[in-house]
Amino acid sequence: MCGITACIGADNSVDSLVDGLQRLEYRGYDSAGIAVKNGSGISLTKRVGEVSELVAAVEQNPIAGDYGIGHTRWATHGGVTDGNAHPHTDESGRIAVVHNGIISNFQSLRSDLEARGHVFSSETDTEVVPHLIEENLRDGATPEEAFRAAVGSLSGSYALAAIIGDEEAIFATRSGSPLVLGVGDGEYYLASDVPAFIQHTARVVYLHDGDFVVTRSDGYDITDSAGRAVDRPVEPVEWDPETATKGGYEHYMYKEIHEQPGALRRTTQSRLNTHAGGVELAEFPPESFADVTQVHLLAMGTSHHAGMYAASLLNSRGIPAYAFMAGEYSVIKPPVTSDTLVVAVSQSGETADTLDAVRRARAAGARTLAVTNVVGSSITRECDDELLIRAGPEIGVAATKTFSSQVTALTLLTERIVEDVTGAKSPEARDLMEALSRLPGDVQEVLDTSMAREIAIEYEGSDAYFFIGRGVAHPVALEGALKFKEISYEHAEGFAASELKHGPLALVTPLSPVFAIFTGHEDEATLSNVKEVQARGAPVIAITSDRSGEVTEFADHVLRIPDTHPDIAGVLANVQLQLVAYHAADLLERSIDKPRNLAKCVTVE
Ligand code: F6R
Repeated sequence: MCGITACIGADNSVDSLVDGLQRLEYRGYDSAGIAVKNGSGISLTKRVGEVSELVAAVEQNPIAGDYGIGHTRWATHGGVTDGNAHPHTDESGRIAVVHNGIISNFQSLRSDLEARGHVFSSETDTEVVPHLIEENLRDGATPEEAFRAAVGSLSGSYALAAIIGDEEAIFATRSGSPLVLGVGDGEYYLASDVPAFIQHTARVVYLHDGDFVVTRSDGYDITDSAGRAVDRPVEPVEWDPETATKGGYEHYMYKEIHEQPGALRRTTQSRLNTHAGGVELAEFPPESFADVTQVHLLAMGTSHHAGMYAASLLNSRGIPAYAFMAGEYSVIKPPVTSDTLVVAVSQSGETADTLDAVRRARAAGARTLAVTNVVGSSITRECDDELLIRAGPEIGVAATKTFSSQVTALTLLTERIVEDVTGAKSPEARDLMEALSRLPGDVQEVLDTSMAREIAIEYEGSDAYFFIGRGVAHPVALEGALKFKEISYEHAEGFAASELKHGPLALVTPLSPVFAIFTGHEDEATLSNVKEVQARGAPVIAITSDRSGEVTEFADHVLRIPDTHPDIAGVLANVQLQLVAYHAADLLERSIDKPRNLAKCVTVE
C-alpha cells in the first residue's frame, strides 16, 4: 500500500530509485514519481500508471541528481492523477516528500495552512507535510528541526522521507507504516521493504515506530522523537537477491507457486522431529502454552483462511479456537482473558486491521503471538512472541507460497499447543510429522503433474466458478475462490460444502463449474454435495487423492493430489487451485502480479 524509496551516495540515484520502485510496485501501482536533488535544485518527475510510465517519462526527459526519494502509489486520499502522485512539494519546490500511510488530521492542518496563505496543488493528505516543513524553516528551524516539528503535528500512520533545501541529506521517520534502512558501502537506502535495495546491499536496519533517521553520504543517525540517539542493529538479510526477481518466469506469482517446495522446507527446517513424532519450536520454552484455554486467530484475506485452517485443527484436538477477520474483531470485541492466546497471522506483518485487532486484544489482557513472513515487521513488535514462516519474499500481490507456509507453521504450532496443554502429543502427531516431512516433495509432484491449465481452458467463459469443501477444505475453498477472483476478475465464490443447499445452490447452473475439495475427512458428505450440483447440470472438478476412491468415479474431472495426512492435504489441494486461478487469469491476459485496485500490503483500515 504505497511504496517509498530513497537513496544517497549511490552511483546513479535516478536508476536506483526507479529500480527500487519497480521492485516495490506490488505495494501500489496507481502512479509513481521521483524527486532528485542536484546543483540547480530539485528535479521532479511523476506519472499516473505503473512505474513503466515513469521510466518512459525519465527516458524522454532525463533528470539527474546526487540523492533523492521515490514513491509508487495506491490511492487513498485524492484520485489517480499526476497532481496527486508523489513526491509532493511546497510552493517553492525546495522541499519534496514521499509518504506511505494516512495522515488522519490532514484536513485541519490543511485548513490552518491555507488560512496562513499556503496554496495546495493536490487533494492528498501528504501535501501538508512539505508545507509544514517550509513554515518551520521560515521560522528559523534547521532542516532536521523543521522535519521533526512537522512530523510532531501529524496524527495517523506514516512512513515519510524528505529532501529539504540544500542540506545533502534524506530525512525519514516511521509510525505505523514500514520503513527499513539499507546500509551499503558509502551508499544508503530507505524503503518500505527490503527488495527495493537488496541488489545493492543485504545489510538492513529495521526501524521502529518513532525512529527518526538522517542519512548522508558518509553515514546515518537514528534518534527518537526527543532527539536522543537510538542504537539499532544492522542485520544481514538471509535470502538471495535472486528470490526478489522473476528469475525467468513470466510472472512473480507463477514463480512463487513453484517456489513452494523450497519455502516449505524452510518453514519446517529443524522444527520437525519425525523420530519422536513431535514438534521442535525452539522459539518457545517448554510448557509455554500450558495455560492456554482458548486460541483466537486474527488475520485478513488469505491469512484469515490460514487462520481458519488452524482453528479447524485446534478444535479437532480439543483446544477451543476461533478464527476472526481482524477488521471485525475490533468491532465485535470477543471477550479475552490472560489465558487466551491471540495468534495474529500476517504475511507482511503490516496489515492495519490485524495490527489494530492485536493492540486491542493485548490491551484487554490476552497473550499475543505473531505468525509472519517478515522479520522486524510491525506485528512482531506488537506481539509478545513471534513464529516466522520463512517463505522468502513474496512479490506477486496474490499470496501463494506464504499461505502454504502459514498453514504449515500453524500446524506445527497446533501440535505444540496441544502438547503443552494436555501434556501429551496428539494421536495424529507422528503421522502428521511424517506427512509434513514429505510435503515439499508432494507439492513438487503436484507442480510437475497438474492438469490445471487444461481445466482453465475447458471452463474459460463460464458464468461463475464455485469452490466447496468441509473442515480444513472449507478455508481452502474460500482461498481457491479468492485467488481466482482477484487475478481473473471472474465471479468466484467459496462455500462450506454443507452450506450449499441453504442458499448458494440457487446460483448453480451448467455454466458454473464447481471445484470440490476432498482431503480424506468427511469425504462422503462432500460427495453427496457433488451429486447435488451435478443434478443441476454443473460440471464438477474434484481435487482429491486416490484415498477418496469413489469421488473419481463421479467427478467430471479430477485434479489429483498425492495421498497424505488429511490434516495437511488442504495445502496440496490449494496448490492445484492456485494453478487453476493462475492459468485462468493468464488465458484472459490479466495483470496477474498487479491485479486492478489491489495492493499487497494494506496499511490502512
Ligand atoms: C490475497 C492476499 C490478501 C492478504 C491480506 C492480508 O491474495 O494476499 O488477501 O492475504 O491482505 O495480508 P497480510 O497477510 O500481509 O496481513
